[in-house]
Amino acid sequence: MSKIILLYSTTDGHTQEICCYLQQLIEKSGDQVTVVSLADDPAVDLESFDKIVIGASIRYGKHNKMVYRFIETNLSVLTKKPNAFFSVNAVARKAEKAQPDTNPYLLKFLKQIAWQPKELAVFAGKLDYQKCGPLDRFMIRFIMWMTKGPTDPNTNIEFTDWGKVEEFAQLIHKM
Ligand SMILES: Cc1cc2nc3c(=O)[nH]c(=O)nc-3n(C[C@H](O)[C@H](O)[C@H](O)COP(=O)(O)O)c2cc1C
Repeated sequence: MSKIILLYSTTDGHTQEICCYLQQLIEKSGDQVTVVSLADDPAVDLESFDKIVIGASIRYGKHNKMVYRFIETNLSVLTKKPNAFFSVNAVARKAEKAQPDTNPYLLKFLKQIAWQPKELAVFAGKLDYQKCGPLDRFMIRFIMWMTKGPTDPNTNIEFTDWGKVEEFAQLIHKM
């Protein structure tokens, strides 16, 4: 049995939902999983875990600054344990941008950090325009218009391929 920590950064809760599903799946394999929000400024003892996974969503082209800070602060422990990172974004709904080596946000992120995660994944996110404030709704609809996505103001669509999340759970269990 491994002790695994899943740390996440989310704005609207979808990355947390992915982490909770990963937790359910991995625990079925007999591992013990702790899910922690990076927004809680976790003073977790990473040394006490066997494997470390970080997941973060994209907003306006970037992962949250706290993800960079957490990686910088914990670089040495991160690199010496089995580890993984996943990104959640809307662009990954496109097949040609849905892999770690083809998703522009993940590729850029990896160039910006000193950590080279051993395992990587990209998941397409969720868009619920009515959940956004007026400015965010306008902006995300504009981004979608530019990238040929849905622009209907009532759009509530989950692009996530949960089968891909299941494969990632297997990978975390085995790594
Ligand atoms: C205001 C806003 C800005 C976003 N900006 C981007 C973006 O620049 N690129 C992208 O691929 N997805 C973008 N997204 C889509 C999010 O990455 C997607 O909704 C994801 O599921 C959010 O995950 P979270 O709920 O964990 O924060 C944006 C979403 C919102 C609401």
